[in-house]
Amino acid sequence: MSDFIALPFAPDVGLLKLTWTSAVVSAGVLAILYSQSKKDGFNYLPGFPFVGAWSFFTKRAEFLDVAITANRSGKTSKFNLRNHNIIIATNEDGRKVFYGTRGLSVSDGYAALWGTAPSLNEALGEVESTAKQSNFFMKRLQPLLHRDRLHRLIPELFSDLNVHLESWPQSGHMDPFTHVWNVIFHLTNRALGARELADDLSTVKELATLYWSAEQDPSPSSVLLPWIPSRTKQQRMEAMGTLYTTFADTINKRISEGRSENDAVQFMLDQDDTVEEIAPFIMQAIFTGTITTGILVCWILIYLHTYPEWDAKIRQELEALLNEYSPDATLPMYARFSQVPVEAWEGSTPVLEAVITETNRMVISGSNMRRNMGEDIEVNGLKVKQGEFMLYPMGSLHHDADHYPDPLRWDPSRWADPTRLERERSQWSFLGWGVGLHPCLGMRIAKLDLKLAVSLFIQLFEYSRVDKNGNPSKDIPVPNLNDLHRVAPKGEGRYFQYKRRPSTVKTAMLQ
Ligand code: HEM
Repeated sequence: MSDFIALPFAPDVGLLKLTWTSAVVSAGVLAILYSQSKKDGFNYLPGFPFVGAWSFFTKRAEFLDVAITANRSGKTSKFNLRNHNIIIATNEDGRKVFYGTRGLSVSDGYAALWGTAPSLNEALGEVESTAKQSNFFMKRLQPLLHRDRLHRLIPELFSDLNVHLESWPQSGHMDPFTHVWNVIFHLTNRALGARELADDLSTVKELATLYWSAEQDPSPSSVLLPWIPSRTKQQRMEAMGTLYTTFADTINKRISEGRSENDAVQFMLDQDDTVEEIAPFIMQAIFTGTITTGILVCWILIYLHTYPEWDAKIRQELEALLNEYSPDATLPMYARFSQVPVEAWEGSTPVLEAVITETNRMVISGSNMRRNMGEDIEVNGLKVKQGEFMLYPMGSLHHDADHYPDPLRWDPSRWADPTRLERERSQWSFLGWGVGLHPCLGMRIAKLDLKLAVSLFIQLFEYSRVDKNGNPSKDIPVPNLNDLHRVAPKGEGRYFQYKRRPSTVKTAMLQ
């Protein structure tokens, strides 16, 4: 995604090219000098003076591969983003330090990726308020994901899924990385937001559009040259503002009308939480896990189409659930699925579990971040100073042949077959739901959303993978790990040609 850089004057194009060319050549020379000038034991990854590692944003996978390879030969890498140092240690010691050290802060860490990390002094001053906000989110999330609540939520989630999927044409060409993802956005609003918004499909679709503007990938220029005005950045801020205001206005309206609803917002209002606490909670809920869940649904559908034997296994598993909990085949499919209890979705779906874990391993290979807000610490015998950052690329483990033989092959039997080696490994060798001090607190709702969405989609639609002109894509799909935003497949085949299955057209008309 490219940034439009708004210049305050009409430039002379020839002069501008010359100036930029000279600047790039000089910066390249300086970058080489800069990358060779440090002698503190770290393996320095190249970057430009003052701004740092540009290719971290433009070619992240290749950039991180250099650090991963260096670590295999005993070197621990370090690079610079603006004035921040970031350390990458992917070996076992690195993993233990990264996921197990208390002074390493998650929320302060991720700020580096967005170019919003303040100086150390400012960050130390904000430690308390950052921790307060993140503690509030975790404290309220836990009861909202209690089994009883999820059980009651299932029919509503299926009803939203059905309404959303019914709003699509009966057949057509679509980009799952927008349309299927928007369905997950709807489910997040239902589970962790306000009923008034989740009940109205057109409002959900408007909010989803805002979300996409707000969630745009940061371009290198917007992070590394933040003083240059950028339309993308401005759009992002405006979209965030509108989302926040929509949530806050909805809650205020409810309070002023003295209404009570059965939803997450009401749960928090009943605890005397304020609008200034609840609106950020919803913002955090939609920004923390929705995109990841959406990406996984898209990829599970892609893999099931590519490996029909696994599609057949899942259908068999779903058939067994329906036979046991909802045998009346005259009911619409979403209504039948609604009757399957949460215990069965969580405990009697081993094939779906294996498919989710394997897809997570293949696709969610991005970077976890931390900032050292405590004392200096050591990793691989080298110092990580207070205020410095650490990065752990999950792919360094998930795509390592020593841990996962034939690592780039999607093979859920790694998880489904108890005799396979990977099952015996410790929890630290699979990072897809977090480990150590910061496991994923939303795993329960994420897995439920994944299972519900995939189950209904494959029952309602026939689909195949095509390019943007509708030509079939027959290759084995490979996630583009440089596409930080959606991790769509490499090449052209990211679209679906779909059509509603005949039996479900009839079902839909019967309702
Ligand atoms: C398929 C979807 C999801 C995946 C694959 C996923 C994965 C992860 C991973 C790998 C971490 C650890 C990050 C780190 O160590 O830096 C994490 C942490 C976290 N996740 Fe998720 N997540 C998903 C969905 C969600 C959802 C839906 C929520 C809540 C709405 C959520 C809430 C959290 C929270 C609060 C943490 C941080 C815990 C802490 O800081 O101690 N996640 N998740």
